[in-house]
Amino acid sequence: MRQAGRSLPEYRAVRGEGSILDAIGKPELAAEITLQPVRRYGVDAAILYSDIVVPVAAIGFGVDVAPGVGPVVAEPFHSKDDLRRLRPLEPAIDTPYVLETVRIVAGELDVPLIGFAGAPFTVASYLVEGRPSRTYAKTKALMKGDPSTWHALVDTLAELALASLRSQIEAGASAVQLFDSWAGALSPADYERYVLPASRRIFEGLADTGVPRLHFGVGTGELLGLMAAAGADVVGVDWRVPLDVAAQRVGPDKAVQGNLDPAVCLAPWDVVEAETRAVLRAGAAAPGHVFNLGHGVFPETDPDVLKRVVEVVHGEHG
Ligand code: CP3
Repeated sequence: MRQAGRSLPEYRAVRGEGSILDAIGKPELAAEITLQPVRRYGVDAAILYSDIVVPVAAIGFGVDVAPGVGPVVAEPFHSKDDLRRLRPLEPAIDTPYVLETVRIVAGELDVPLIGFAGAPFTVASYLVEGRPSRTYAKTKALMKGDPSTWHALVDTLAELALASLRSQIEAGASAVQLFDSWAGALSPADYERYVLPASRRIFEGLADTGVPRLHFGVGTGELLGLMAAAGADVVGVDWRVPLDVAAQRVGPDKAVQGNLDPAVCLAPWDVVEAETRAVLRAGAAAPGHVFNLGHGVFPETDPDVLKRVVEVVHGEHG
C-alpha cells in the first residue's frame, strides 16, 4: 500500500524536500526507497516507489503531487477539448526512470516486485477535480452530463495504464496492481456503466503476460463482485467487509487481499495482534489470501508494530 515507507525514519532521511515526482525521477533513490520496507519488515513482496499520476504527469498534463495534499492539476479537465492534452504513453521515452527503477529493484530483490498504475476512474477524478475530493461532484457531473467525453477520457487513461503496466512487467515486475482507490464513491450501476469497461480493457490487455493482476479500492464493499468481473486475479478489500464475506462476493476463482484497518496499528499491541489473527482466520475462507492493510499506513505508525504484524502473519509467534 501507499506510504508503507512514510513511517520509516530511513525514508524521511533520503526522501528530500519537494514533490515526490522528483524523488520518483531518480532511479537509484527510488530503488533504495522501494527496498527499505522489505529490509525493515521482511515482507513477501515489494511495491514500486512511484505514484498513480506519473504517466499523466509524464505526458505533460500539468500534474504535480503537493506534499501533505496529494495530486494537484494546474488546469483541470473540463470538456471534450481537453482530450487533446492527453496523448499515448511511450514508456521508454516518457518514463525511462520508472523502468530503470524496476530493473534495479528486480535485480536486487529475492521477493516479487509489484508494479502498479492508477485505474481510469481514480486518475480521471484527479484530472477533473484538480485536487483530492470528498464528493467527486465534478467527476460525476462530467460522467453523466457528457458520457461520450467521459468514455473517451477513461478509455485514454486505460491505454496509458496498460502501456505503463506492460512496460513495468517487461522491465522485471512480477505482479501488477491497479489502484481504483476512489471507485467506492460510485453506485454499482454507475461503476458498471462508466468505469468497468475501461478497467476491464486493462486486465484483458495484460492476460497474455501471465503475471498476477491485483485490483484495489476503498469503500468498495458493494462493488467487489464487479471489480472481480473486470478481470483481476486478486481483489483488494478495505477493513469494512470481512474477508470471508468478500470472498463470497468476488467468487470462487479469485484471491482476496487485505484487510487490517491501518488505524488498528496505532492501538496497543494485544489489540493489533488479535485483529491480525482475525484477518488471517477470515482470509482462510478464500481460495487465496494476500495479507495486507486495508489501506495505506498512517505516517505516525510505529515501525516496530508493523514488523511484529509481519511476524504474526509468518507464524513466528505461535
Ligand atoms: O508506499 C509506497 O511508497 C508505495 C508507492 C506508492 C505511492 N503512491 C507513493 C506516495 C503507491 C503504490 C502510490 C499509489 C497512489 N498514489 C494511490 C493509490 C493507493 C492508495 O493509497 O489508495 C493514490 C490514490 C495516490 C495519490 C496520492 N499520492 C495521494 C493521495 C498522496 C498523499 C498525499 C499526502 O502526503 O498525504 C500521494 C503522495 C504519495 N505517494 C506519498 C507516497 C509515499 C506520500 C509521501 C511523500 O510525498 O513522500
